[in-house]
Amino acid sequence: MLVNMRKMLNDALINHYCVPHFNINNLEWTRFILEAADSVHSPLIIGVSEGAVKYMGGYTVVSSIVKSLIKELDIKIPVALHLDHGSSYDSCKEAVKAGFSSVMIDASMHDFEDNIYITKKVVNYCKHYNISVEAEVGHVGGTEDGKEKSILYTTTSEAVKFVNATGIDFLAPALGSVHGLYKGEPKLNFETMKEISESLNIPLVLHGGTGIDDEKIRKAISCGICKLNINTELQIVWSNAVRKFLDQDKSVYDPRKIIKSGEAALKEAVIAKIKLLGSENRS
Ligand code: G3H
Ligand code: ZN
Repeated sequence: MLVNMRKMLNDALINHYCVPHFNINNLEWTRFILEAADSVHSPLIIGVSEGAVKYMGGYTVVSSIVKSLIKELDIKIPVALHLDHGSSYDSCKEAVKAGFSSVMIDASMHDFEDNIYITKKVVNYCKHYNISVEAEVGHVGGTEDGKEKSILYTTTSEAVKFVNATGIDFLAPALGSVHGLYKGEPKLNFETMKEISESLNIPLVLHGGTGIDDEKIRKAISCGICKLNINTELQIVWSNAVRKFLDQDKSVYDPRKIIKSGEAALKEAVIAKIKLLGSENRS
């Protein structure tokens, strides 16, 4: 059974840990991530971008895969199926109709007032279905589903105004993190992160989890980050393992063997991140 993110993230906020959001790309990744998180009893957020939804065959395909794997594998941990960076009211609605338990409306490409208007519309819709809503103010930098964005830092007053006006459950402020690989050191504004967290007292989300070192992740958690989004890091770990396997055995052609050759490395990375975030045994 899928759950929304409210209970898991509010517990993380009270008890000062963080729940991992891992992006999926296909059936196998979904299985690997579910099994890894279940083995260490961590609550789990499965994030799916619009690009990944399209790649996997549509919202209902994604939702059926996740629900069926939970059932067939007898997964016991709470799992949220979350639309990542939903770009419009319509895509959020489609995800909800297909059975997603949570959505992010990312209208951060619009101006502030339009971002509020679109986000509020999504919140009003989701209320009727008990779906949790995350939204972004400012811009997380880097590449998202192939589109480039520059960083636009969120201010505390904007964050407070946005949350009060929209009634969202969780806020993703842009505080220096980027999607994909960092050019140089990540420069996170921890002071504003803490200030926003203390002013709002709702769980905060940090996007662009790849490339942020362990110490900075721990500090971010102490400043109110309750959900960390990780995508690129898992892609790198998995593809490195697959590349190594293919280099070692030039005769292999069975796709099952090829995809599976990244399983151990992917699971190891998932479990290491869960331990770092402190979500082990929190399910
Ligand atoms: O929404 C997804 C993330 O923010 C992932 O970022 O690819 O840098 O780990 P990442
Ligand atoms: Zn993101």
